[in-house]
Amino acid sequence: MTYQLFNFSEAEFLNTYWQKKPVLIKGAFKNFIDPLDADELAGLAMEEEVESRLICKQANKWQVEHGPFEDYSHLPETDWTLLVQAVDHWSTEAAALMSPFRFIPNWRIDDLMVSFSMPGGGVGAHVDQYDVFILQGQGKRHWKVGAQQKLTEKVPHPDLLQITGFDACIDDILEPGDLLYIPPGCPHEGYAIEPSLNYSIGFRAPNQQDLLSAFADFALQEECFKQRYADPNLTLRDNISQINTGEIAQIKELILSTVSDKSKLELFLGRYLSQAKHDLNIQPIEPAYEPEDLIELLEQAQAQAINWFRLGGLRCIFIDTQLFINGESVELNSAQMPIAQLIATQEEYSAAELIELTNNPDALNLLLALVNEGFIFIDADEAF
Ligand code: SIN
Ligand code: CO
Repeated sequence: MTYQLFNFSEAEFLNTYWQKKPVLIKGAFKNFIDPLDADELAGLAMEEEVESRLICKQANKWQVEHGPFEDYSHLPETDWTLLVQAVDHWSTEAAALMSPFRFIPNWRIDDLMVSFSMPGGGVGAHVDQYDVFILQGQGKRHWKVGAQQKLTEKVPHPDLLQITGFDACIDDILEPGDLLYIPPGCPHEGYAIEPSLNYSIGFRAPNQQDLLSAFADFALQEECFKQRYADPNLTLRDNISQINTGEIAQIKELILSTVSDKSKLELFLGRYLSQAKHDLNIQPIEPAYEPEDLIELLEQAQAQAINWFRLGGLRCIFIDTQLFINGESVELNSAQMPIAQLIATQEEYSAAELIELTNNPDALNLLLALVNEGFIFIDADEAF
C-alpha cells in the first residue's frame, strides 16, 4: 500500500505552518485505508520490546497502565485509549504511512505512534515538545488545537502531564484521511466519538541538554578532547580567590574547540542522529549471505517482481560522503553512492533498481553488508 497526500503543497506547508501554526487538512488522504487494525495494535502492545500505554478515565479519575499487556478483558466499552510507540519498527504496512511526510529531512523524523480509542477515550489536554502530524484512521474523533498560549499545567496522575484548558483555533470532528499538524508547544486534545485509530507521525529536535550529554558520551567512548587547561604565563595577582575574565575566556575556548573539530563533530552528529530511540526489529541473516547468494536472491525477486524493504525505523543520514545508519558510519566511494542514496531516500525498492545499482563489486558489497545486518530485507511472506 502506498500513501499519498492529496492536493498538498509541501513548500507551502513549510512556509506557512511548519513550526509556526497548527492546521487541519480535511481529506488529506483520499479513501484512506488503515495499515493495521485495533486487534493488531493490541497484539503489538503484548510484546515485550514494544512500548505501550493504556490510559483510562473512570469516574473522573485518570488511570495509566504500561505494557506489555496480557489481556484486555477488563476494559470497559468507553473512555480509554491504547497508545503504542514506534509501530513503524514492527509493521511494514504502518511504516509506509511515514512516506508522504519524508519531504522533511530524515534526521528530523522520529517514529509513528498509533492509538486506538473507544468513545470518550483520549489522553486529556496537553502540549508536546515536538512537531506532530495526527492522522485520523478508522472512526471519528473530536479534536481541539490551540495556538501557543499561556497554559496552566496539572498532573492528574503521576504519568500524565496535562493542562487545565486552552483557547482552540481548530475545533472539529476528524474523519478517516483527515490530517492535523501541531507545532511544538501548541495545546491539543482529542476525544473519540467512534472507536478510532489515530496515527501520530512524530518529529525530533535535540535540545542542548540532549546534545551536550550525548557529546560527552561520545568524547568518553572515543577518548578524545583531552586537552587540559594550561597557564604557563601565570603571574602574581592581588586576589587569589578570583577566576579572572581571561581565564574564563580560555576555558570557554577549551570547550568551544571541541565542537570546532569538524570531523569529530560530524562523526558525533551522524552517529547520534542516526540512532533510533526505540528498539528496532533487527534480524541479521545467519549464516550471512555470500555475494553470489545475494545476486541469486535479487534475480529471483526480479523474476517474481518482489520488492525489498528498509527496516522500519532505520535511520539513514548522509554527511558529505559518509553514510550513517543506526549509529554506524561508512565512508563511501563514488561507486557506492547511487545505491547508498537510494537506500537513504526510499524505504521500498524493486529488485530491478537494486540490481542496476549494484553492478560493481563495491556497491554489491555495501548492499550485502546491509542485507546481512538485517537493515534491508525481502518480504519473507512473499519470498520464494
Ligand atoms: C492520541 O493519539 O491519542 C494522542 C496523540 C497526541 O495527542 O499526541
Ligand atoms: Co499530543
